[in-house]
Amino acid sequence: MEKKIMLTGDRPTGRLHIGHYFGSLKNRVKMQDEVDECYILVADVQALTDNFNNPEKVRKNVREVVIDYLSVGIDPEKVTIYIQSMIPEVAELTVFYSNLVTIARLERNPTVKTEIAQKKELFGESVTYGFLGYPVSQAADITAFDATIVPVGEDQQPLIEQCREIVRKFNSIYGEVLREPEAYLSETKRIKGLDGNEKMGKSLGNAIYLSDSEEEINKKVMSAVTDPSRIKKDDKGNPDICMVAYYHNLFSTKEECENVCAECKAGTRGCVACKKQLAKNIADTLKPMREKRAYYEAHPELVDEILIKGTEKARKKAKEVMAKVKKAMKLDYFDQ
Ligand code: TRP
Repeated sequence: MEKKIMLTGDRPTGRLHIGHYFGSLKNRVKMQDEVDECYILVADVQALTDNFNNPEKVRKNVREVVIDYLSVGIDPEKVTIYIQSMIPEVAELTVFYSNLVTIARLERNPTVKTEIAQKKELFGESVTYGFLGYPVSQAADITAFDATIVPVGEDQQPLIEQCREIVRKFNSIYGEVLREPEAYLSETKRIKGLDGNEKMGKSLGNAIYLSDSEEEINKKVMSAVTDPSRIKKDDKGNPDICMVAYYHNLFSTKEECENVCAECKAGTRGCVACKKQLAKNIADTLKPMREKRAYYEAHPELVDEILIKGTEKARKKAKEVMAKVKKAMKLDYFDQ
């Protein structure tokens, strides 16, 4: 039987929020018990593609993201957590793959296209080679570990598709060496922001972080967008256009959701009471994560140890795959 290998990662540009949790962290925690090997990379090289002018930010967030992983229950005994830049084989593979991708194809990648449009301020009229090419480096991330399953949010699907194309192209030229990965998407689609924006994001200022305190959660929930036509407490509301109702569906029991919606529609429950209940449920759900975070924050040496061990193990694996790639590409000059 072919081994099931999971690999995924995040750019360390900020702490992770509940959008990340429902989008893929939850799946990763589940998958760590279901696959043969599990890798999670902290994508510092990728983070630099759109933060090359801010290395301090990337560096600082590497540990923050790792602590987020640990706090949601990623188990370092089961999952190899490593730093992308410390695996030079991945950079090497990126160079080899760059011959197998056209610029036009990269420019058509929907994820890259959207991101470029969002980053006008950084890139002006012309995007960097590194940013345009990050799908190639992501394909290297995935294939350097023979990964078959990639749990990611929906927005990442075009990157997995592009990786599959690179794999097929590579194999058709150099022989069947690489494995085609599959995206593993969550049932909950992308989580909307507190302001009703389709995306929850750091730069959008509409996110609830896994590490937010009870007070922060309260404050944020109180600011969430509700049915704008509901002005007085006993006006009848429409939960379908209310972000509070939307998050109740994620954090409250089915019964609570039904009650809250029925009372909103009847105008018998005001928004403040509804928000208080939601804030409490979110705070309760995130409490164990906050506690775990506090533990690791008090023991930074444990975080470092996890990263050092993980990176060592990851490097070993990437070297094995690299040897196969070089052989296939006739670059194994002195190995015969
Ligand atoms: N692109 C992902 C993000 O934006 C991070 C990432 C880098 C990744 N390499 C990966 C995800 C490999 C899955 C597999 O956060």
